[in-house]
Amino acid sequence: MSKRVLLIIGGGIAAYKSLDLIRRLKERGVSVRVVMTAAAQRFATPLAAGALAGERVFTDLFDESQEFDVGHIRLARECDLIVVAPATADLMAKAAQGLANDLASAILLATDKPVLMAPAMNPRMWDHPATQRNLATLRADGARMVGPNEGEMAERGERGVGRMAEPEQIRDAAVALLTDGPLKGKRALVTAGPTLEAIDPVRFISNRSSGKQGYAIAAALAQAGAEVTLVTGPTALTPPAGVRAIHVETAAEMLAASQAALPLDVAVMVAAVADWRPAQAARQKIKKNKTGLPTIELVENPDILASLSKPGKSRPRLVIGFAAETDAVEEHARAKIAKKGCDWIVANDVSGDVMGGADNQVLLISKDGAQSWPRMAKEQVAQRLTAEIAKALNPKGRGRK
Ligand code: C5P
Repeated sequence: MSKRVLLIIGGGIAAYKSLDLIRRLKERGVSVRVVMTAAAQRFATPLAAGALAGERVFTDLFDESQEFDVGHIRLARECDLIVVAPATADLMAKAAQGLANDLASAILLATDKPVLMAPAMNPRMWDHPATQRNLATLRADGARMVGPNEGEMAERGERGVGRMAEPEQIRDAAVALLTDGPLKGKRALVTAGPTLEAIDPVRFISNRSSGKQGYAIAAALAQAGAEVTLVTGPTALTPPAGVRAIHVETAAEMLAASQAALPLDVAVMVAAVADWRPAQAARQKIKKNKTGLPTIELVENPDILASLSKPGKSRPRLVIGFAAETDAVEEHARAKIAKKGCDWIVANDVSGDVMGGADNQVLLISKDGAQSWPRMAKEQVAQRLTAEIAKALNPKGRGRK
């Protein structure tokens, strides 16, 4: 691809990883122009960044030779994507507030290009309400985020969320944003994994669900260029690059996070939502006692799929549900479309070893037809479903590249 990234390197210890990011982007045929903040130059040199990028590095808003030659407005416009890595707490705060007192912040204010940020900071700084407010503002302004990851920090003995995403992860997210896929500009929601409903502080009701199929669908949609929100219950998986992941536990939280993702073009509800939850979660651990077995009163959970499928202005254009069945798969799936009001059901027969496995065999059912797909890897199911979604959202190939 002959695309251009403007990479803004902020001042953090993770700046050295951004040098590797330059190399990895170039390997994919992306040309990289680099801007470094004053603080970034304390951690990596413009010489090193320039040597890897193969062109001069820009550092100064008031440097006459730089300003007359290219200028911050041109820097802000002459690219397909701006990547900020590391995005420090300070740089995020400036961008969220619209400050423009150095080259990096002036570019972020002047640009009309998509922005991808890879935050990196101490976990306390990340958790601070000020940073979280800035994050919400930046997201609402359209910035995409990759990471931060959880792990060991540079400071000895510190762990937590705040590590910059790895260069490969940032590259994948950038390449996804640069790709003119068939779902470019479309907003997608995927729910995945189980929900967890507390009985007491140590016990819960849940469903068996690895989250693999949902995560694969989120990844495939993002690769096709969609802006993806993944609302996920607890799983052992790492959210795919370029996807906005929201971690929840209960069905009620999953419903709230799903509704917050509106407006949407497509919603794919893959989560294995618990049908019921204890009417009340005991505040203390329920003791094994002599008076007999405890009784757990259950109440029904909200149906997220049915709720998003309700006709109305905010209904996504395409709502897709999943159905795990053990018998009469097509018949039950058709009944589910009618009951929930969704457009398609992807039905799988879970009488075999699909649960937690690598493969899946599904029937794609809509109001007017059914397709039976052969057994294939969950990633392939995701690719094929993404292709069908693209066809449905771009009738007659309109808007497709
Ligand atoms: O009714 P059943 O659980 O079989 O329906 C499965 C489909 O409905 C899946 O797409 C699942 O994600 C969705 N669902 C939901 N909220 C629920 C129950 C199921 O979104 N409370």
